Amino acid sequence: MSELDSDRVPDYFRQRNTVAEWWTPDEGPLAFHYDAELKVLEDVLVIDPAWRVLDVGTGRGRFGAFFATRGCDVWGIDLNPEMVELARETAERRGVSERFTIEAGSATDLAVYAQAPRDLVLCMELFDHLPDLPLALRELRSATADSGRFAFTYVPSESLYGALGNVYRAVKRRWRPQELLISRTYGLTEIRSLLADAGFELEGHWGVGVLCLNAQTRLFEQNWLARALTGLARLEARIRPYHRGRLARHGAHVVGIARPVRGA
Ligand SMILES: C[S@@+](CC[C@H](N)C(=O)[O-])C[C@H]1O[C@@H](n2cnc3c(N)ncnc32)[C@H](O)[C@@H]1O
Repeated sequence: MSELDSDRVPDYFRQRNTVAEWWTPDEGPLAFHYDAELKVLEDVLVIDPAWRVLDVGTGRGRFGAFFATRGCDVWGIDLNPEMVELARETAERRGVSERFTIEAGSATDLAVYAQAPRDLVLCMELFDHLPDLPLALRELRSATADSGRFAFTYVPSESLYGALGNVYRAVKRRWRPQELLISRTYGLTEIRSLLADAGFELEGHWGVGVLCLNAQTRLFEQNWLARALTGLARLEARIRPYHRGRLARHGAHVVGIARPVRGA
């Protein structure tokens, strides 16, 4: 059985006044953490302005706008109508509306894009909210050109942040079983295997914020402990915006880049 409810989670994301209320990665004390995800892509991918990019679960459009400002033609889709509007506002504000088209759409139905697969497909900060990741990965693969790349993030079970989140979810499941859980974690081995099943091969992975224990959590923002933890994470980001090697899988978020397997 999936860890996330396959009806209730997409229903939650389709509604107004849900994700738009808490997903503001460019603002607030943790902006440095989310900026590091962009930095990984900027450093690792040699961006070609001729690329056609698909940003799945575009949110406020931060990644789509980034690639559009680099000259790429970008399509962004999101399940949430409010996020579609907000991403369009981002595109306008950054002066890239002509190169960044945003529509409503789902990661589990990319048939339209499979007709003209893209050079780069992004699925950032979304794996953890998908009740059926294997299905989404098959769709994402069909939307990625054989010569293209696929970039994604996930919350690793191996990280302190992921482990704390799992304790929180276990407590919630036990004491408030009727409450909706909208996120989950994955281990690196599981991610590799899910990618392989969908026809992708993991090329590399980079971890952001090994010490970022309160990513996404605004609950304790005013608390001295949260401020101290954020300060520690900011220091880490200043010294090392992202990790490679053995520490990579222990970031609060892992950025992965995969290639389609030939013939898959
Ligand atoms: C945490 S936000 C990440 C947004 C953006 N990728 C970023 O990193 O800033 C996740 C986004 O995915 C959208 N989403 C959730 N389920 C989806 C699905 N099945 N298909 C497409 N978008 C989805 C949400 O509405 C939300 O805007």
